[in-house]
Amino acid sequence: MAPILDNEAAWLESLGHPLKVGPGPQPDPADDEVVIIVAYAAVNPLDWKASALVFSPSAFLLTHLIPPSPGLIGSLQDGAHPVDTPHILGADVSGTVVQLGRKVTRFQIGQRVIGFCDGLIINNKAKTGYQRYSTLSEIMITAIPDSLPLANAVVLPLSISTAAMGLFVKLGLPLPSFNPEPTGKSILIWGGSSSMGCTAIQFAVAAGYEVITTASPANFDLVKSLGAAHVFNHKDSDIVEKVAKVLTPRVSNAFDCIASAETQKVTSEILSKIGGGKLALLNPLECPFPDNVEPISVFAYEPGLMDSYIGEFIWQTYVPEGLANGKLKAKPEPMVIEGGLAKVQEGIDLLRKGVSGKKIVIEIQK
Ligand SMILES: NC(=O)c1ccc[n+]([C@@H]2O[C@H](COP(=O)([O-])OP(=O)(O)OC[C@H]3O[C@@H](n4cnc5c(N)ncnc54)[C@H](OP(=O)(O)O)[C@@H]3O)[C@@H](O)[C@H]2O)c1
Repeated sequence: MAPILDNEAAWLESLGHPLKVGPGPQPDPADDEVVIIVAYAAVNPLDWKASALVFSPSAFLLTHLIPPSPGLIGSLQDGAHPVDTPHILGADVSGTVVQLGRKVTRFQIGQRVIGFCDGLIINNKAKTGYQRYSTLSEIMITAIPDSLPLANAVVLPLSISTAAMGLFVKLGLPLPSFNPEPTGKSILIWGGSSSMGCTAIQFAVAAGYEVITTASPANFDLVKSLGAAHVFNHKDSDIVEKVAKVLTPRVSNAFDCIASAETQKVTSEILSKIGGGKLALLNPLECPFPDNVEPISVFAYEPGLMDSYIGEFIWQTYVPEGLANGKLKAKPEPMVIEGGLAKVQEGIDLLRKGVSGKKIVIEIQK
């Protein structure tokens, strides 16, 4: 394979400063890695939280006491600071395969794929999103059908890993299927119109659960189109009573896909009211929880998903088949910003102000 010498990246040179475009790391895939030429990269709240030092991925992992795993946690414990600058951010990419590690058998040069980049957390700059060429672990890539535009597909990778971790690893829902048997159980997915919510709704429905969700009225159709059975306006003053009424007592769980202090309080109140249960949360715990509610932290980068057959099943079987047969939808819709790596900072700043039922996506190259 000819070496790639023209990589460029949007660099976070120091925390709290805007990204700067400069030469990127030269790709050199390990045996189980794949290099893609990045067409689109999606922007996630993690980008502004990490770059502004509002949130530290390593601190999150350590304070949530994830069981030690060689390599991942070890390296985080050694490097005591949150983001080791200069670094490259970006978790979600879509593009075309250009190089294959020696042991990669599932992908071919020229194939269109999406992938989840874990480079920020394992401190590997080549395995991040905001660059022209991104190196990815084979297990966190999936092929996409020709009918699905790369700009749409890129909204998915982080949500796939996070929703699968929350639902199938942490909450123990049955693995998804295209013709699920109804379980007779329900789940509250709080924040259904968020990126995380859109995938979590679809996975929970495919696990045979009845989904109750929340969104602004403008996004009711979106969440219903993904399979939610009931949707409520999260701004309603009597939201606790309304949601508690439709959740099934004692056979319900909840997944707070927003997980602010306010939503942690309201989701735990709802769960407590119907007899208690497990509450999966996407951000660190911010409030006291009722005795009958068990808060569970979910982090996309935890090894649990990939160390078990669940990650393999989701990434290599369910997602590619679901995208091909149309049962898994790439939602929310992308809000594409053209202009390449120089526009990543604009996307991050825009997301920090907030989006509604959309995902900000940067066109890295045509
Ligand atoms: N732990 C992890 O590994 C992990 C992974 C990914 C994300 N996260 C975290 O998860 C959170 C969501 O990320 P995201 O990318 O999915 O967010 P996002 O798509 O940017 O969220 C936007 C959506 O949030 C909804 N929303 C805002 N406030 C709400 C509230 N009080 N109740 C219900 N919905 C509300 C809005 O709904 P309406 O416009 O319909 O009102 C909007 O559609 C972020 O804090 C992120 O950092 C954590």
